[in-house]
Amino acid sequence: MPVTTLARYRDWPEERMVARILEIKAQLGDELTILGHHYQRDESIQFADYRGDSLGLSEQAAQTDARHILFCGVYFMAETAAVLAKSGQVVVQPVPEALCPMARMATGAEAQGAYELLSGVWGDSIVPITYQNSTADVKAFVGRHGGAVCTSSNARQLFEWAFRQGEHILFLPDEHLGTNTALDMGIPREQLGVWNPIKPVRPEYLANARVVVWQGFCSVHTRFTVEDVRAARERYPGCIVVVHPECRREVVVEADQYGSTTGIIRVVEQAPAGATIVVGTEYHLVQRLNAEFPDKMVVPLAVSVCNTMAMTRLPHVLLALESIVAGEPINVVSVDAETAHWARMALKRMLEAS
Ligand code: 13P
Ligand code: SF4
Repeated sequence: MPVTTLARYRDWPEERMVARILEIKAQLGDELTILGHHYQRDESIQFADYRGDSLGLSEQAAQTDARHILFCGVYFMAETAAVLAKSGQVVVQPVPEALCPMARMATGAEAQGAYELLSGVWGDSIVPITYQNSTADVKAFVGRHGGAVCTSSNARQLFEWAFRQGEHILFLPDEHLGTNTALDMGIPREQLGVWNPIKPVRPEYLANARVVVWQGFCSVHTRFTVEDVRAARERYPGCIVVVHPECRREVVVEADQYGSTTGIIRVVEQAPAGATIVVGTEYHLVQRLNAEFPDKMVVPLAVSVCNTMAMTRLPHVLLALESIVAGEPINVVSVDAETAHWARMALKRMLEAS
């Protein structure tokens, strides 16, 4: 009988669910890999064979030979794993409704429209780069036009790669990662344009720009302010402030360091015992770091939760695993062959360049 309902676990204590998950994991052995993003709740990430940032998770997804990949994260991450999957591999996302709102701020058709308008002023020297936090459709658009994917840990490398291929970058969908990367490479503000997909500027106004960034954003990270950083420094004198590059430029400038989730973890690891590290990223990761490093104090710059990352709970993980072990996987992530081909091209360029 197909496994379809969470209601069956209503009366199960947590320990029973944990025990059953571990039993299924042992039964499936090498047939199963569980991947989990750092923003997941402890209750789901505790089962991950590999936990990581978007780049590390893509690398793992590309390498594993397991027949089943259970992806605890948001949809674009599981979709990326599906694009990179080998023939016969099945990617399952425990909660398919867990979407990244920023990834939905650009569609392939909108990106194509912007590309055509910008080609009118820039000719054929545009290299599109998309943040991993985008749909397969947008990744495919990028792949078709000779561009690549990047993540928060290799954006600069990919911008440098793009400038070896052409003279202009169209970056989507995160305005802030694009702006932080371009400015840190020394590109002057005057050569940085912003593309509002709802109300595009006349492309001729962007004739002098070298980089145009899509006006998308992550509300989990744009909620951090300069005032938050100043208040933290007053409250914790001598603290280290580290933020994610999806934060606004002024917050990144005010912080001591910025980096991907893995980069943030490294900062905490390398801080001396007794240090206070103020972290501007998703709250579940900050909380976990504070628990994992009892000799340091890890505090949030402000409490900011990614609600969709938080959707994956213990019963969802169990239900998905039961469906796999029953031979009728639910919530299988799939991408049509044409989209997958071009999206894979864009992802492979990233994996080769980084
Ligand atoms: P990382 O690649 O840094 O883990 O970022 C993913 C993400 O969604 C940040 O909001
Ligand atoms: Fe998307 Fe922001 Fe959540 Fe990351 S934290 S998954 S960018 S909404």
